[in-house]
Amino acid sequence: MPAVAAPYPARAIRTFHPRRGRMSDRQTTALQQLWPRYGLRVSDATPFDPAALFGRRAPLVVEIGSGMGDTTAEMAAADPDRDYLAVEVHTPGIANLLDLVDRRELGNVRIAEGDAVELMKGLPPDSLDAVHVFFPDPWPKSRHHKRRLIQPTHVALLRSRLAVGGTLHCATDWAEYAEAMRATLDADPGLVNQHDGYAPRPAHRPVTRFERRALRAGRPVADLIYSRR
Ligand SMILES: C[S@@+](CC[C@H](N)C(=O)[O-])C[C@H]1O[C@@H](n2cnc3c(N)ncnc32)[C@H](O)[C@@H]1O
Repeated sequence: MPAVAAPYPARAIRTFHPRRGRMSDRQTTALQQLWPRYGLRVSDATPFDPAALFGRRAPLVVEIGSGMGDTTAEMAAADPDRDYLAVEVHTPGIANLLDLVDRRELGNVRIAEGDAVELMKGLPPDSLDAVHVFFPDPWPKSRHHKRRLIQPTHVALLRSRLAVGGTLHCATDWAEYAEAMRATLDADPGLVNQHDGYAPRPAHRPVTRFERRALRAGRPVADLIYSRR
């Protein structure tokens, strides 16, 4: 992986902020040593060969915007019969997850560096068991709503990559985004809500530092869990 993030075309509307972050010594070492074993670039993910990537065929979960990777590591550790592909653009987060994966010896996790929207376009239709979108950037200003990950065109793309019966699980602490997500997901003809409105907080989604901070600030968290028809 290069020291500098891959350039993204300037005019495309991206769902992420370009941001730099300081890397700890441990993250720097993890990136140098573990990237060849667990990492891939989005641009190298097509054609997608999960058997080559994971060394087996198993139901596949894609986590979009894995952040520091705590949720990915925790869920993958508790779910060894499925494979987890995390996708993130933030280098310190990628490095942190590499470190977690190695320390916890998680053979069922791989980490893609790059734009998740591009990754999803390159995956075969009907191929995923689940897509997780936990605490996507809320882009609160109206003029930035076009950057949101959960919007009709992206949802149609994510849904098309799910196998029939596969799950799209989103969570957010941003009340207005939660309402918008729910309207968008309800409006997609290929998705069906597994609950009556918001889902009860699922025990299998770990509480991260991000969520604790939201709860301390008085922002309740909404989970939305839909399956593909
Ligand atoms: C608010 S953070 C939440 C991180 C993590 N899911 C959590 O719960 O702590 C959103 C993350 O999504 C990543 N992200 C946003 N759009 C993305 C995209 N198109 N491809 C890959 N990562 C993306 C950002 O870099 C950021 O790390």
